[in-house]
Amino acid sequence: MRVGLALGLAALAAFPVTLAEPPNGLPGGPQGPPTAPNGPPPTTSFGCPEISPGPVSGYYLAEQFESPAVPDVTSIEAIRQTMALYALAIDGRNFEALRKVFTIDTRANYSDPIGVLNGVQAIIDTLPPGLANFASTQHHLGTQYIDICSPNSAVSVTYFQATHFFTPYNGVANPVDGSQVLIDRAQYQDVWARQGDGSWRITNRNLVRMGPAVLDGGAPLG
Ligand SMILES: *[C@@H]1O[C@H](CO)[C@@H](O)[C@H](O)[C@H]1NC(C)=O
Repeated sequence: MRVGLALGLAALAAFPVTLAEPPNGLPGGPQGPPTAPNGPPPTTSFGCPEISPGPVSGYYLAEQFESPAVPDVTSIEAIRQTMALYALAIDGRNFEALRKVFTIDTRANYSDPIGVLNGVQAIIDTLPPGLANFASTQHHLGTQYIDICSPNSAVSVTYFQATHFFTPYNGVANPVDGSQVLIDRAQYQDVWARQGDGSWRITNRNLVRMGPAVLDGGAPLG
């Protein structure tokens, strides 16, 4: 178990992505419960709640999202499937597959320390080195709201829990006090555009942390 912990800490030291300071001053972020933002809500475009470039507060999301009387279930399911494809690509280490999720000229703010990435190629180039420090990952998508605002535009918010495993699966459960995993809990705020072939891709993303990264050994990081 000591070896496992040492490996884990080595991986932590080498991995900048999930050890970021939580974003400051974000209503709904890790610093406290959601509060009403100052000033009027952003104006809308294409009938969508305006979450681009964002990020926007949790308070705003709950205020602006509507449940349409007749949801466009075909588009909603297409977007849900594409979100699932994102998790498969990341956890499967098939970064080229991210081209099926993001537009070429997408903008993605993965928050500190990665910050804003411009273009899908930047995502494909930037994410792998940090993830390579882990034996495997599992991105577990959860609570999700998908709002189709026009035939070709949509926004979504997807909670996720990303488990980063320090050691490969070997059939042995977590030792008593050594951490096996680092867990991030956050949300993706995404803006979508329907493409010429009918598929949906992300044109703008914000990764918004909802709490500190934690080790399964117990203590929050930092
Ligand atoms: C990126 O996201 C972080 C965390 O949500 C936020 O604090 C920051 O302002 C964003 N940066 C830009 C340039 O939009």
